[in-house]
Amino acid sequence: MADASSPILLFDSGVGGLTVYDALREVLPDAPVIYAADLAGLPYGEKTEAQVAARVAGLLGRMSERFRPRLVCIACNTASTIALGMVRDVLEVPIVGTVPAIKPAAAMTRSGVIGLVGTGATIRQRYVDDLEAEFAQGKALHRIAAPGLVALAEDKLRSRALDLAAVEEARAGLAAMPRGGEMDTLVLACTHFSLLKEELGAAFGPDVALVDGAEGIARRIAHLLEGQAMTPGANRFVVTGPPGAAEGLGPCLAARGFSPPEPF
Ligand code: DGL
Repeated sequence: MADASSPILLFDSGVGGLTVYDALREVLPDAPVIYAADLAGLPYGEKTEAQVAARVAGLLGRMSERFRPRLVCIACNTASTIALGMVRDVLEVPIVGTVPAIKPAAAMTRSGVIGLVGTGATIRQRYVDDLEAEFAQGKALHRIAAPGLVALAEDKLRSRALDLAAVEEARAGLAAMPRGGEMDTLVLACTHFSLLKEELGAAFGPDVALVDGAEGIARRIAHLLEGQAMTPGANRFVVTGPPGAAEGLGPCLAARGFSPPEPF
């Protein structure tokens, strides 16, 4: 049984995993959390599989030694679809991944045309092929890479001016695919993109439902930790990279109960 102060470690390349954190807070308000943002490695979506796997496995190994988490959540679709199996093989704590919400999207669609927006690395993964084969048979699942949305989400949480060109590019790209006009469900297959629901909702319109996995992941974590004692403490936010990498995030972190960013 974990020590009551042992944290849940939420890991992402940047701020995207805060969408999982927000959902987790709803179901486990008292859980001590350490959020780790690998800002030195951002963006994962533009890296090779080998680069992402080595980085994620190495960092999570070191972070697990230092923080002794009761559970690790890889709050990043890119890292999860590439490295989940490998990380599970090497770490002894329970690991929860974040993978594209194709199953709920396939259950929701009426037209049978689903869009999936993710990073370049995520959309080419075998993991996604397998989810599609298992849950979306007989549906059209159109994938599109939207790397620009990662930077946009990072800018949004730093209260910077937003250039919405990447949102429009993703919309137009999906609309141009076969039966694109019938798309009624869009899988947000990158945790960063859930921070842009307002902007994506405005571009795709009210007839397209935006689906992500955040609530399901939070419920899964709560289930795995059921019955465990938890001492609420100040949530910590650790970042890789040069000092200043987390500049501008102060207000959004404070609003979520995090102490100021610490270097890892
Ligand atoms: N938040 C990450 C995801 O869910 C990716 C962002 C990145 O490219 O680093 O895929």
